Amino acid sequence: MFLVEIRDLVETDLDKVMEIENLCFVAPWKKEDIIRELTNNQFATLLVATINNEVVGYVDYWVTFDSATICQIAVHPNYHRQAIGSKLLQEVFKDCYAKKVLTITLEVRESNSKGINFYTKHGFNQFLVKPNYYSNGENAIYMMKGVELNG
Ligand SMILES: CC(C)(COP(=O)(O)OP(=O)(O)OC[C@H]1O[C@@H](n2cnc3c(N)ncnc32)[C@H](O)[C@@H]1OP(=O)(O)O)[C@@H](O)C(=O)NCCC(=O)NCCS
Repeated sequence: MFLVEIRDLVETDLDKVMEIENLCFVAPWKKEDIIRELTNNQFATLLVATINNEVVGYVDYWVTFDSATICQIAVHPNYHRQAIGSKLLQEVFKDCYAKKVLTITLEVRESNSKGINFYTKHGFNQFLVKPNYYSNGENAIYMMKGVELNG
C-alpha cells in the first residue's frame, strides 16, 4: 500500500505533469497551456496527487459562481486503477461543496470508455452529445452531476 497525497500544483511540477499529459492524451495540452491555467486564470484550480513526493496525477478544474467544470484529469499509466483519479475527484467535490457549487460539468471523448466509466462511477450522468467537439471531429459526451455532501 502507498500513501497518496493531494496538494496544489506548483511550477516545479510541470515537467512531470507534461510527461503524464503526453502519456495519457491523444491531443495533449502544451506546457504553455498549463502555465496559463496556473498563472493567468482566476477561475482555475490545479491539484496534483503524489506518492512519496512523486507526482502521479493531476486535475484542473474551474469554478465559476455556482458551477464548475473539470477541464483535465489524468493519472500516470503505471498507477491506473488504484483509486488515485478517484481521490483527485473527491478533492474537487469537497472544494465545490465548500464553495456552494451546484453542478459540475465536463466533456469527454465519445471513444474514451474508461473515462466515461470513471465519471459515471462518480455520479456523473450523460447529458448530451456535442457533435464534432474535438479538433479531429470526434464527438464529446457532455456529463453533469449535482454537488452534494460526501460526493
Ligand atoms: C480516467 C482516469 C483519470 C482514471 O484514473 P484512475 O486512478 O485509474 O481511476 P480509479 O482507480 O480511481 O477508478 C475509479 C473507477 O473508474 C472506472 N475506471 C477506471 N479505469 C477504468 C478502466 N481502465 N476501464 C473501465 N473502468 C475504469 C472504474 O469504475 C473504477 O472503479 P473500480 O476500479 O472500482 O472498478 C485514468 O484512467 C486516466 O488518466 N486516463 C487517461 C486520461 C483521461 O482519459 N482522463 C479523463 C478524461 S479528461
